Amino acid sequence: MQKIVVLNPKGGSGKTTIATNLASFYSLRQQHPTLMDFDAQGSSIRWVQMRAETRPRIHGIAVYEHRPGVTRSFQLRLPAQCQCVIVDTPAALDSNRLQEMTRDADAVIVPVLPSDIDIHAASRCISELLRVAKMHRSENRIGVIANRVQRRKRTYQSLIRFLDKLSIPIIATLRDSQSYLYASECGLGIHELDSARARADVEQWQSLTSWLDAHPAPALRAAAQA
Ligand SMILES: Nc1ncnc2c1ncn2[C@@H]1O[C@H](COP(=O)(O)OP(=O)(O)OP(=O)(O)O)[C@@H](O)[C@H]1O
Ligand SMILES: [Mg+2]
Repeated sequence: MQKIVVLNPKGGSGKTTIATNLASFYSLRQQHPTLMDFDAQGSSIRWVQMRAETRPRIHGIAVYEHRPGVTRSFQLRLPAQCQCVIVDTPAALDSNRLQEMTRDADAVIVPVLPSDIDIHAASRCISELLRVAKMHRSENRIGVIANRVQRRKRTYQSLIRFLDKLSIPIIATLRDSQSYLYASECGLGIHELDSARARADVEQWQSLTSWLDAHPAPALRAAAQA
């Protein structure tokens, strides 16, 4: 079972967009993903509900909901076929919740917009992941997605320099694209769209999905099985 957490306490950085598109990608691969939504805005869950019944199924769990008479473990149970869990997290996470949400994660993905404010917020988030959640760089579990990027812009270059200093990899660089908006309105991911524009976006996802295919890393897997 692979667990992928999409996280950045900064609002609007693309967490839900990445989480829903990952769920769509793994559903096409027949991995029966579960999308856990920890954000009370419920955007990921709404996206799952919008999804047509003819599409490969994605199991959604509204973790933010506390239903009377339903135990937590019952609420969080996974379907038998599920091979991967994707976690969408809310903005403005404090240290305790950061720790709670990243526990047992094989990969933590941090989408960052290339603006000075967002880069500053991301640096705090990554420092907390390293310090509070005790993730070591050597484990290579944290990857950054540069989202809504115009490559020649100065802020993109400073994002690259900043991550270089931290030795955190940029696992994908995604452009600003209407495909994400269109897909999100229909309960789809870009991998399910059939347009030339979406194909260009899908290409940008290849480095991300290859990086994820290497997780859990063999060392982590061995430790988990010991
Ligand atoms: N690469 C992209 N191209 C175009 N639009 C994008 C892209 N990434 C995200 N968006 C849009 O930006 C907005 C914010 O994205 P999203 O909801 O995924 O962010 P978030 O981090 O989940 O926000 P919140 O912190 O409020 O949960 C959405 O309207 C989404 O469609
Ligand atoms: Mg969101």
